[in-house]
Amino acid sequence: MQAIIRAVDFAVPSRRMSNEEFSAFLDTSDEWIRSHTGIGNRHVAEPSVATSDLAVEACQKVLKQAGIPAEEIDLILIATATGDFIGFPSVACIVQDRLGAGKAGAMDLVAGCTGFIYALETARNFVKAGGARNVLVAGAEILTRVINWKDRDTCVLFGDGAGAVLVQADSGTDGRGILNSVLRSEGSGARLLERTEGGTRFPFTDGVVDPTRTFLKMEGRQVYNFATRVVSEGIVNLMETNKLQPDDIAWIVPHQANVRIIEAAAKRSRIPLSKFFVNIQEYANTSAASIPIALSEMTAKGLLKKGDLVLTFGFGAGLTYGGNLIRW
Ligand code: ACO
Repeated sequence: MQAIIRAVDFAVPSRRMSNEEFSAFLDTSDEWIRSHTGIGNRHVAEPSVATSDLAVEACQKVLKQAGIPAEEIDLILIATATGDFIGFPSVACIVQDRLGAGKAGAMDLVAGCTGFIYALETARNFVKAGGARNVLVAGAEILTRVINWKDRDTCVLFGDGAGAVLVQADSGTDGRGILNSVLRSEGSGARLLERTEGGTRFPFTDGVVDPTRTFLKMEGRQVYNFATRVVSEGIVNLMETNKLQPDDIAWIVPHQANVRIIEAAAKRSRIPLSKFFVNIQEYANTSAASIPIALSEMTAKGLLKKGDLVLTFGFGAGLTYGGNLIRW
């Protein structure tokens, strides 16, 4: 039994914010943001919209595309670091209710920007073990609500969105499916990327609320160095384990955090940059949503053909990193 990706789609807020808009209230410029990150725009959720709203929209589109009713979903996995609530209830349970997926288990998965890759591998194992036939997997984030809009080091980097896929059990006779994954972590770097307050380590104290302690904080340069190291190592590792040459791979779909990280990964892994899909210019870093949004755009543009070998790769808070090898 193989676990194949039956359908993929995404949802982003309609409000599109350009780099120029930041110059009105921050000491920054379109030139700096583009040249240091590759980002041109991001989509920003209206205050009334929560993460589950974006996830529901993406999942509904996927169900429609696949042509199956919500009652046939066995499991809903939502990768997110920006849930509707702190800790619980999960976004997945809210999605399950809104979809009417009456027979589905539901849980969130927290692995920073690598969350979708972890969730896809989790879905594959459920399917292969016979525990589920239809799994909805989504990455969904509203990062713009947890950034410090006065901190130019971080606020220009992120955007909102959700991407979802239906992972389905298949006889696998044509060789398609999620073939293999690598999942890794480096918890020693946990504090390089964090939201400090509101958990059990630094709980909210009655009468003392410092909003900046709930914002995302990042040691950008150290995360950058970590990312350039692990992305190229990880891609090479996945290719060697599966006895693949660069020519065998149709597309590498990297987490969209910084185009310079993608360029460095291409150079270090000796894979042509033209094989790396890049859409950071439109969406910025949407964390766990970036890879399914990319897969969805690629499908819509006809870039992914049946039988293509596709390698996803991501890194992020935790620290975590990993990738999936997929025969599309
Ligand atoms: N506009 C103008 N100047 C800026 C801005 C800005 N938006 N941001 C920083 N600068 C300035 C800095 O203050 C610094 O000025 P100084 O030299 O006077 O001190 C200068 O630009 C250079 O700053 P650096 O931090 O060295 O810039 P760098 O080239 O490293 O780029 C960046 C910073 C884009 C954050 C990069 O380090 C990066 O991409 N890091 C990785 C981030 C990432 O990938 N995160 C992913 C995980 S996210 C998740 O899991 C939720």
